Amino acid sequence: MSENLLKGKRGIITGALDENSIAWKTALKAKEQGAKFVLTNAPIAMRMGAIQDLAKECDTIVVPADATSVEDIEKLYAEAKEFLGGNFDFLLHSIGMSPNVRKGREYGDLNYDWVQKSWDVSALSFHKMMQVAEKQDVMNEWGSIIGLSYIAAQRVYPFYSDMAEAKAILESIARSYGYRFGKLKNVRVNTISQSPTKTTAGTGIGGFDAFYNYAEALSPLGNAPSEACADYIIAMFSDLTRYVNMQNLFHDGGYSCTGITEEIVEKFSDKK
Ligand SMILES: NC(=O)c1ccc[n+]([C@@H]2O[C@H](COP(=O)([O-])OP(=O)(O)OC[C@H]3O[C@@H](n4cnc5c(N)ncnc54)[C@H](O)[C@@H]3O)[C@@H](O)[C@H]2O)c1
Repeated sequence: MSENLLKGKRGIITGALDENSIAWKTALKAKEQGAKFVLTNAPIAMRMGAIQDLAKECDTIVVPADATSVEDIEKLYAEAKEFLGGNFDFLLHSIGMSPNVRKGREYGDLNYDWVQKSWDVSALSFHKMMQVAEKQDVMNEWGSIIGLSYIAAQRVYPFYSDMAEAKAILESIARSYGYRFGKLKNVRVNTISQSPTKTTAGTGIGGFDAFYNYAEALSPLGNAPSEACADYIIAMFSDLTRYVNMQNLFHDGGYSCTGITEEIVEKFSDKK
């Protein structure tokens, strides 16, 4: 149902790879809520073709851009501005990738070139998107910028490997740039820390099934689905959240605040 929450707003949505992607669901909901936006993903992701179908459904274009390349981001903003006919009200950073995780390198045996790549793709690209936005002055007053994080930024999830540091950096960048952009243009910057979600990036983490099921059992509401994450992103892009800034916002059904549940007590009790 459309409440026209994003009517008249323009933006950029990164990271829609296939219909499971959090960014994919966000694009469909942004369209439903009246936004105009441009889709982008790494040139290599274009080969899979699916993003063009999404673009058709959303009456928009896809501009390929490697989020680690300042030059690509500059080109992306220039083309998007022309297509949309003006500056942006929202940016979604929905990007994550670790070669160490992908290739199964353990935390005690990291390839440091790949670590640099993980952090560049998954965290520094967030800074790059904002720095280019500031320099090109493409954000409208009271705009909203969101990155997606995971609780491994605060607590140990052994299989999350160098992505844990990437997310800690991402959240820190949100605070630092949220301060800067807030002062400059009343633009807010936040991260949403999402439940484990069955996407390409999510299921690529070793032991995903176990921590998906564990989080499901520990969350009073169960894991937050990707559609609900998209709803939260839409709310954060809307004018209803204009004073939320520099936060890491847990969207996890209550998982991050729950120590134990009756079901888990039952499972681990000696008295079985
Ligand atoms: N799935 C989960 O369990 C989960 C939980 C919390 C947070 N997140 C975060 O949500 C975000 C979106 O991931 P998702 O779960 O929708 O998975 P996804 O695999 O659908 O999306 C990740 C996207 O990153 C893109 N990408 C990778 N390298 C890039 C580059 N160099 N330039 C531009 N784009 C690049 C991929 O092409 C892909 O579209 C990520 O930041 C992820 O870490 C996911």
